[in-house]
Amino acid sequence: MKKVVLAYSGGLDTSCAVRWLKDRGWDVICFIADLGQGEDFAQIENRALATGASKVYIKDLQEEFIQDFIFPTIKANAIYEGKYLLATALGRPLIAKYLVEIAHKEKADCVAHGCTGKGNDQVRFEVTAGILDPGLEILAPVREWEFKSREEEIDYAQKHNIPIDVTKKKVYSIDRNLWGISIEAGILEDLEQEPPEDAYIITKSPSQHSTYAKYVEIYFEKGIPKKLDGKAIKPKELIKQLNEVGGLHGIGRTDMVENRLVGIKSREIYEAPAATILYAAHRELESVVLDRELTHFKEMISLKYSELIYYGLWYSPLREALEAFIDSSQELVTGSIKLKLFKGNCVPAGRKSKNALYRKELATYGKEDKFNQKLAEGFIRIWGMPYQRGK
Ligand code: ARG
Repeated sequence: MKKVVLAYSGGLDTSCAVRWLKDRGWDVICFIADLGQGEDFAQIENRALATGASKVYIKDLQEEFIQDFIFPTIKANAIYEGKYLLATALGRPLIAKYLVEIAHKEKADCVAHGCTGKGNDQVRFEVTAGILDPGLEILAPVREWEFKSREEEIDYAQKHNIPIDVTKKKVYSIDRNLWGISIEAGILEDLEQEPPEDAYIITKSPSQHSTYAKYVEIYFEKGIPKKLDGKAIKPKELIKQLNEVGGLHGIGRTDMVENRLVGIKSREIYEAPAATILYAAHRELESVVLDRELTHFKEMISLKYSELIYYGLWYSPLREALEAFIDSSQELVTGSIKLKLFKGNCVPAGRKSKNALYRKELATYGKEDKFNQKLAEGFIRIWGMPYQRGK
């Protein structure tokens, strides 16, 4: 019997995929990646076995997700089309990496995923698997099977006693990990409608925002967050706490129409409180310590870096080369940023760094001013000289 390792979430698509693959003669091994989606993994494992998987792997990848994927993106300030903090996009190459690893361990011929043929995630899984082992076959049951709608899938699941906990009414498609939540489908497909409150999961709606502000202080070392409110904290704990407090204050909601790699536009909403807070703090610190040219150049790098992540090219030479540039830019990005979280906003409330380029004696309008204003005249003449034609 040919073996396939399937990236399994316990949701409708991957549950139907287990059975569908099995019916086509595959020995199905399920791989559940724990990226902090906060599910009941024992239950998902049982579900996979009850649906026909011969074996289940569960791996807690949160630490690796943070160190190797999330931290580099914070350092890069990577953001897709100005709005999306890339939580889903970042998780895919990591899941694919372990799909390939388990396939090798199990001597499987093939890896599979439950993505549709219209999204970015299929690209991210398959491009990554192809880079890491070009010899592996890849199956995408959802692209091939006969079901035309979610309803038909639910009927199939019920007919085959596949345990699922979706109803035909619940229509959002949700992808969640510790870095953020992506929510699409249902009423969200109508661009003329604002997202209903029930679509959001971890962020409070404006009517429920606290009337008190909350301050958080984040200390970075070379671009990596190390302390919260002056105390060292494990990265996973930091992200968890910031998701909680940020969610409470309604931080990190995004409603966007994005350009997918496969050529269509789609409307999706996102929740990423911790990511929003850490990005804001990191950028603020960079504004204090990086010089103008590096800051501006890094913005271009950041744009390209985000595209590469979105496009499924994590394991590409350009992404790796840009990471080297970004790492070098972070040498002096050490210091503390205090932020005020209040009614959906997250604004700077204090900045401190031993590497600051900010010099009060040069910036001040007070009498301690050390800026020699007479020098400005010559500077401006020479600066503008190339643009003046002769009389
Ligand atoms: N549009 C996002 C991306 O391409 C998220 C995709 C998954 N979204 C979902 N709701 N299942 O990265």
